[in-house]
Amino acid sequence: MNAQITVVDREGRQHSVPWEPDQSLMEALRDNDMPVLASCGGCCSCATCHVFLPDDVMETLGERDGEELELLAETEAFRPGASRLACQVHFAAALAGTTVTLAPEE
Ligand code: FES
Repeated sequence: MNAQITVVDREGRQHSVPWEPDQSLMEALRDNDMPVLASCGGCCSCATCHVFLPDDVMETLGERDGEELELLAETEAFRPGASRLACQVHFAAALAGTTVTLAPEE
């Protein structure tokens, strides 16, 4: 059973995107033609999958690991309470209905 999420692109347009259980959030975005470069392919080394998530989702997901946080903190758009690398966010049914906002390109 997939989860439907809302994606806000860099022009402020909203898209309804299906997220399959075997995909990371980055894969769901990329596979549904959202403009996410994901140049490292999901191995937490490029930060081109940077997204902002709502407070409650950040809480549900828990702590970012050190490597992810380090990479995020180097980006200009970093928001301590909202930034995640989408490739490090795993599917969870509880995330259905979430709004994901694409961070500006660096
Ligand atoms: S795809 Fe490169 S850090 Fe996520």
